[in-house]
Amino acid sequence: MTGPEDGPGRAFWRTTLEDLAAAMETRQSEYGNPDEPLKFKIYRGRPRRPLTGRVPRTLTAVEAFDEVALSTLLHYGYGISRQEFDTNGTWPYHRMVASARCLFGVQLYVCLADGVHHYDAAHHGLVHLRDGDHRALLARATGSAGALPEAVLVLSAMFSKTAYIYRDYAYRLCTQEAGLLAGNLDLVARSMGLRALLHHQFVDEPVNRLLGLDSDEEPALLVLPLHPAGADLRREPVATTAAALASTIDPIDPPVVRSGLQVAPACPRLTEVNRASLRTDTTAFATAEPAAPGGSGTEPLPLPAAEPPAVDLAQVLRARDSGPGVFRPVASRVDGTELWARLARARTGVTSDAVPAGAPVPLEIFLTVGDLAGVPPGAYRLDRYTGALHPVAGADAISAIERACLPGTVFRGMNAVVHLVGDRDWAFDTFGDRGYRVIHQEAGLLAHRVCVAAAAQGLSGRIVNAYHAGAVRTALGLTDRRHTPLFQILLARTGPGGHVIVPVELEEVG
Ligand SMILES: Cc1cc2nc3c(=O)[nH]c(=O)nc-3n(C[C@H](O)[C@H](O)[C@H](O)COP(=O)(O)O)c2cc1C
Repeated sequence: MTGPEDGPGRAFWRTTLEDLAAAMETRQSEYGNPDEPLKFKIYRGRPRRPLTGRVPRTLTAVEAFDEVALSTLLHYGYGISRQEFDTNGTWPYHRMVASARCLFGVQLYVCLADGVHHYDAAHHGLVHLRDGDHRALLARATGSAGALPEAVLVLSAMFSKTAYIYRDYAYRLCTQEAGLLAGNLDLVARSMGLRALLHHQFVDEPVNRLLGLDSDEEPALLVLPLHPAGADLRREPVATTAAALASTIDPIDPPVVRSGLQVAPACPRLTEVNRASLRTDTTAFATAEPAAPGGSGTEPLPLPAAEPPAVDLAQVLRARDSGPGVFRPVASRVDGTELWARLARARTGVTSDAVPAGAPVPLEIFLTVGDLAGVPPGAYRLDRYTGALHPVAGADAISAIERACLPGTVFRGMNAVVHLVGDRDWAFDTFGDRGYRVIHQEAGLLAHRVCVAAAAQGLSGRIVNAYHAGAVRTALGLTDRRHTPLFQILLARTGPGGHVIVPVELEEVG
């Protein structure tokens, strides 16, 4: 694929991950600036299908993928969970997953036997975009064939929603958030007795054409076929090209209420890396495992044998939050062994086309402990095989992490900070310029699992991009620049902020 030091993907990586000042150069700090888009993607004149508001309060295996199951999946997957008032310009709707300033650039499409739909979260319904059963076609776009899925979910990035504040940097945020959403859909599906397959690799043109998307403004990022848990998930590779598959699809142009900026002229660097990431031929698809960072040579702490207590995912998702505007920990006792046990399981059980079958999520988890009962302060790398904690820095590691962050976050009383560390060279050597997308999406999936693990113990999980990667690398004892912190997640109990936030609850069934 692309050579080691060239290509738009690596160039964008250098700016957005290694040089915070350059990454933020074009950011607009004013809310409500003239480029502000509508808060939701609105289609006009298309048939709507309301989803039932009566969904179960707890998540258990479903008998069939019927209307209630679909509604449950979408509500807990990407529904609105809380509404915030007096926000002074920040966007007021929170969902089951986090999004930078609640901008929610990522859109969700649902392909069922009866056609292609957009998930309208504001009304908890589906907007019908196209007739026909296109599930097999979407599978072909991923370069594979096998049992027909119940549904295929497609996640896209409507850049204008995020770029109105962040301009080019929206590409990083949207790819991170597509990963967060995929991570949540995978967890919810699993709790309902379904299995999601994660496809980062697909020929783009037919998928965008099927959904009526302009690939500069709103490219599809992930394709997720959903199967019953007992289904045969084996896939046979099938070779196809974007042009051949796209020629079988009639174009559609469903009427969308236009708002916000035109991304291609306003965000040239985003557009360059996005265009470079598109794939035209399934024979270029590849998988590999990343290189793990070297060991620290210190004696690891073995993972205690006890399983973490079982929790209901629906309840955890209702409770999940990122903490108030200013992240201010409320000092509290948190069972560190339980958190450790949850994190030790976070990389397993995902079926993704980024790695060989059975391989774990391709990012390393680093845990820096401030105050956790049962785990001494310090920084650790979590062993992917044994779950052991390998010490990589001493008791003052949390202060080094604090110094690596932009001022504004309160660290006093912080229970822990998680970093997800990715292998840059694995991403670009395996996927070419699409590597930027793939690694951020995989990292997002894992970040959401970390946030859910935290929420299960009543902790807020705050994803913060405002850190200096080089300083974090040093604090974690990482010596090779290929190993890069892609996510930083602050974990602490937090109190209420200054805003009124009310939960959005659907009617209960059972
Ligand atoms: C990809 C991503 C990047 C974020 N970056 C920052 C950040 O740099 N600083 C910050 O304070 N919060 C950051 N956040 C936190 C969001 O603003 C927060 O998740 C959002 O307000 C939604 O809150 P909720 O998760 O409680 O619903 C980020 C969130 C995401 C998903």
